[in-house]
Amino acid sequence: MSLLSASLLGIDFANPLLNASGVWCRDKAELDALNASAAGSFITKSCTLVPRAGNPEPRYYATPLGSINSMGLPNEGYPYYLDYARHHDYRAKPLFMSVAGLSLADNLAMLAAIRAADLPAIVELNLSCPNVPGKPQIAYDFAAMTEMLEAVSLEYARPFGVKMPPYFDIAHFDEAAAILNRFPHVTFVTCINSIGNALIIDPETESVVIKPKEGFGGIGGDYVLPTALANVNAFYRRCPGKQIIGCGGVSTGEHVFMHLLAGASLVQVGSALYEEGPAIFARLNAELSALLERKGYASIESVRGKLRTL
Ligand SMILES: Cc1cc2nc3c(=O)[nH]c(=O)nc-3n(C[C@H](O)[C@H](O)[C@H](O)COP(=O)(O)O)c2cc1C
Repeated sequence: MSLLSASLLGIDFANPLLNASGVWCRDKAELDALNASAAGSFITKSCTLVPRAGNPEPRYYATPLGSINSMGLPNEGYPYYLDYARHHDYRAKPLFMSVAGLSLADNLAMLAAIRAADLPAIVELNLSCPNVPGKPQIAYDFAAMTEMLEAVSLEYARPFGVKMPPYFDIAHFDEAAAILNRFPHVTFVTCINSIGNALIIDPETESVVIKPKEGFGGIGGDYVLPTALANVNAFYRRCPGKQIIGCGGVSTGEHVFMHLLAGASLVQVGSALYEEGPAIFARLNAELSALLERKGYASIESVRGKLRTL
């Protein structure tokens, strides 16, 4: 066991880092680059039943404080990622598959195929997905979320994780966690997806910066770190039987350390990976190692959830 060794669902990871779904993981070339990087594991782009081109460009824009995007789930369709997962060497590093069906029926069809393939790939079900037009996304519609988890637990019947959007109200933390706790197959919770429907304005051009949705999009990066830490910690405290994957606002080893303190077992990197490329994982591991050594920690396990309150 080394300083950065991590563990999720009883699986060993060389370190806690991986990409956030949607960043550097759309095709084989990008996925191979993550496999070759210093990340401890990696995850595929959220897939749908059939391939999608996504929204018109520009659909991603970075600022010094983070990013905004409205990608529209561009992906190659689930068979492409399932094929990648079939050929992956799991002794090299663990692989996650992100699934984001546009309906309950789509999710059940994809998960039936993934289950039939009987691979060691770990499913992260993206609950931050469009639902019926005019209704909130699944994870902001607790009745729809319950129905989804009931059906998926029956169909998939293996351990899986859920990717959650951020919540901003204690009553919502309580209710979402209580729902997740009813489903023993939900063994990990990834917090957070982008903070939805933000607006970045360029004062020079007096314009929005991305084309879809009149410029509205999800934000990541420095903008979201405190919200991400709050969500990681809120679910860590409320879901003692589950593990947490932290995601949001990570661009330094210190940010990874904060996610671990808040309760994360693994930590994903989105916007910063988009900007810096897969070499970021070696830098983050080096920064995290130096920080742990300076503070006298012998393992990341001894940091996890050790956040102090006043
Ligand atoms: C370009 C881009 C595409 C994304 N696509 C997905 C996706 O397909 N599935 C998903 O669960 N999250 C997606 N996200 C959200 C990220 O996985 C992550 O939750 C969010 O960006 C916060 O992390 P960050 O602050 O490190 O960027 C995407 C983010 C970006 C920037």
